[in-house]
Amino acid sequence: MSTVDNRIGFVRGEFVSLRDAVIPVMDRGFLFGDGVYEVTAVIEGRLVDNDHHLQRLERSLAEIGIANPFSIEAWTEIETELMRRNELRNGLIYIQVSRGVAERAFQYAEGLEPTVVMFPQFSRVQSNPVIETGGRIITVPDLRWARRDIKSTSLLAQVMAKHAVKQAGVNEAWMLDGDEITEGASSTAFIVSASNELITRNLSQDILPGITRRTIIEIAKRHGLTIVERPFSKAEVLSATEAFYTSASTIAVPVIEMDGVSVGGGAPGPVFRSLYDAYLQDIMTQPAIIS
Ligand code: PDD
Repeated sequence: MSTVDNRIGFVRGEFVSLRDAVIPVMDRGFLFGDGVYEVTAVIEGRLVDNDHHLQRLERSLAEIGIANPFSIEAWTEIETELMRRNELRNGLIYIQVSRGVAERAFQYAEGLEPTVVMFPQFSRVQSNPVIETGGRIITVPDLRWARRDIKSTSLLAQVMAKHAVKQAGVNEAWMLDGDEITEGASSTAFIVSASNELITRNLSQDILPGITRRTIIEIAKRHGLTIVERPFSKAEVLSATEAFYTSASTIAVPVIEMDGVSVGGGAPGPVFRSLYDAYLQDIMTQPAIIS
């Protein structure tokens, strides 16, 4: 990280320059990865699906026994202030809550003060060129723990998967549990079958309940598509008419190749396109927080 970082973050209760922000080394987030996080997209001054992200944050915190330090309204106010102070019209807001600062010991005392860290990232989530060209993926074994429904900051398996992505020069990895796809390294996996069903893995402790997944399913239902929530195999991806993945940081990306083999005829498909366009249209009907 460059020492010249002019972004304003919200760190341990204060708006501070990221250049000056510090976290105690005894923070359990640092020592144990004992924390959870959220990533929300900002598109044209609008926080995308924000209430759902904040509800999932609340759930992740509850699952690991950390009291939510803020109400949804208070979280939204801080996010809005971060957007204003950073003039963030397009990008991401990152939120991390760790259990707090204590002597290093696996067991924790109740009632530690959670450490909250929030900062903006500047990027253009929407209209990424990969939407037009299509993305390429590799498959990797899913090396994660058994509670993938919790958005944990312990991300070593994903860091390894993303390094493999970089080395392969592709866009994303889809993770395999045996022959079945669980999800993307940082996204939810979808395929469209020959009978025009939209298939994505059912929610369970095996995957993160993607917020973009939720909205895509809602839009797909509106479009009259049949949604099937079940595990699907690598072979099914190869015979699918379309494949794509969704996340807050991309909205959705069409897949045209997996492990070097063409997928969906090697070009982004019409189901993907109509869902993606509808998603962006819906966002733009909401009022902007900053102009
Ligand atoms: N990751 N599955 C995993 C493992 C993820 O890390 C993510 C998102 C998703 C998609 O969830 P959502 O639609 O709510 O963003 C699915 C974020 C973007 C990240 O870690 O940066």
